[in-house]
Amino acid sequence: MTKTPNAKSIIAKKRDGGALDKGEIEAFVHGAVNGQVPDYQVTAWLMAVYFQGMTAEETAEFTRTMIGTGEFLPRVSEHPLPVDKHSTGGVGDKISFLVAPLVAAAGGIVPMISGRSLGHTGGTLDKLETIPGLRTNLSTAEFMSCVRQTGLCISGQSDQMVPADRLFYSLRDAASIVESIPLITASILSKKVAEGAGALVLDVKYGRGAFMPDRERARTLALSLTRTSALLGQRVRAYLTDMDRVLGRTAGNAIEIVESVRSLREGPDATSPDLRELTLALGAGMLELSGASVDDRSARRALTEAWTSGAGLQKLRSMVEWLGGDVATIDDLSRLPSSSHQLLVESPVEGVFAGLAARDVGDWITESGGGRLRTSDVIDPGIGVEVLVDVGEAIGRGEPALRLHLTSKPEDAAAMTARAARWIEVADRPRGPWVTETIDPEV
Ligand code: URA
Repeated sequence: MTKTPNAKSIIAKKRDGGALDKGEIEAFVHGAVNGQVPDYQVTAWLMAVYFQGMTAEETAEFTRTMIGTGEFLPRVSEHPLPVDKHSTGGVGDKISFLVAPLVAAAGGIVPMISGRSLGHTGGTLDKLETIPGLRTNLSTAEFMSCVRQTGLCISGQSDQMVPADRLFYSLRDAASIVESIPLITASILSKKVAEGAGALVLDVKYGRGAFMPDRERARTLALSLTRTSALLGQRVRAYLTDMDRVLGRTAGNAIEIVESVRSLREGPDATSPDLRELTLALGAGMLELSGASVDDRSARRALTEAWTSGAGLQKLRSMVEWLGGDVATIDDLSRLPSSSHQLLVESPVEGVFAGLAARDVGDWITESGGGRLRTSDVIDPGIGVEVLVDVGEAIGRGEPALRLHLTSKPEDAAAMTARAARWIEVADRPRGPWVTETIDPEV
């Protein structure tokens, strides 16, 4: 057992801007998890980190120590390296449901520990769980078997995996200090290393619908994530991507599964341009970093082949079956939860459709019950927004632009429709690109 930490002196050292050494970090983190350091001192220390930051080496040591508080999985393969994709969150972000099966079908191995919705951004697990019977609370042994047998697994963090993250995150949330670059870095990467990923693609989003709207701040996070991940021995690349407008044609829970399955069934040409561009860019990065493809060109070719041939859809089917989900849903999407009321919204403006204001859409979904304000909130899977025009298409004034999906009759449909009409944005030229910068680690 680690010796009792001198919590007061470790807090004071960080408060005064000092860099903590390995022994101090280990003593403090293990002391926090095993109860030797009370929560009020842990919170004081987190607050000191929030104001003083951490060096890259400290962040890596902190992450490594957090991983060591729980179970971590060995890499199931050295060639190709198991590879994951992490998004910092957005509105309409369903890339995981496309990229994980496509990468697996193209020869990659994808262990993916995902999270739930909180605030205006959606959560992968909430969306996946709209498939009847599907369970995401796997034990670490089940998670590994799923990865080994199907080539991919999307699951929640088990109670045994990085318990320090759960403790620190809840204290950061209560003390309003979630927004700290080293603490976010350690929180994200501890799970990504513990799940056994040897390679990692990071989709760091900025814009109105992102967790970090400011592009420069998002870039700072991307630099911290790539540097720390590389120090922890992962092959890593970050993509800075535009999250100003809703991604793809839907936002919500079940409705995003509908869009994802249709895309895998109908192929890249039938997919909205933003979703297609991001899926191919991130997927190619995954295949390249993992060693499953030799370069970007061959990776894109392999992904497109998996997409058009239906091999990606077949991979999704295998994973759904493994997770106990109703596989018939993949062929019959009416088995998913759906809306009982729909409102059609017409465009009040004309021009080239640029998308829907992501933050406003995310807030409406959350207020309507399709998202969470507190972790204990139960979500309504049938709530959602469906876009009827692709970005880049011309739209006329008075033409149908979107549909609101509701699960009860709205009190004031006219006010709701008027509110939704304000989300519609037009531009004088097509949008894009969606990936605006690629960041490789500087170690
Ligand atoms: N996502 C995480 O997993 N952790 C954070 O601290 C922030 C976002």
